Amino acid sequence: MAKVVINDMKFPRPSIMIAAMCMAAGLSALQSQEEKPKAKAPKQATSNQLLMRDKLAQMNRILEGITLGDFDQVEKSARTLGMISKATSWHIVEQTPRYKRLSKNFQEQAADLERHAQEKNEDAAALDLVRMNITCTDCHQHMRTEAARGK
Ligand code: HEC
Repeated sequence: MAKVVINDMKFPRPSIMIAAMCMAAGLSALQSQEEKPKAKAPKQATSNQLLMRDKLAQMNRILEGITLGDFDQVEKSARTLGMISKATSWHIVEQTPRYKRLSKNFQEQAADLERHAQEKNEDAAALDLVRMNITCTDCHQHMRTEAARGK
């Protein structure tokens, strides 16, 4: 007769706890990165990659600001994103016309968001955020296509 193995019900618990701890560590790492934007990141990341990662953090700050009705936060992050976008443009040497257009669009969208945050226009700000998200993806897709073409 086959032996019935009863799973130890306590077994999954530690892994859940570890997962929760990892998430908490990840979150606090993210937070401390936001608090000190100049914090050292892993050595292998280029300055452009660091700027791009900060973009991701700023987008999150915008979503948070809109969610909490904190328009100062939205305005600040929109302004930072506009500046980051200008800074990253200097790093990209061979800019295709499409890259230039997307970069300009992004900066205009960030400026719109900054203005809408000042006006506390939540609907317009939410729409600006969506448009910016699409521009992030458009540009990354464009870069991937370009990279693939270069191979
Ligand atoms: C006009 C083009 C353009 C736009 C718009 C753009 N990016 Fe990027 N992004 C790039 C390029 C180019 C790279 C590759 C950078 C590198 O590897 O040097 C990149 C890479 C990244 C990376 C990966 C960095 C890494 O560590 O490898 C992240 C994250 C990122 N972008 C976030 C964003 C977010 C978020 C937005 C929108 C808020 C955004 N980007 C908008 C051009 C753009």
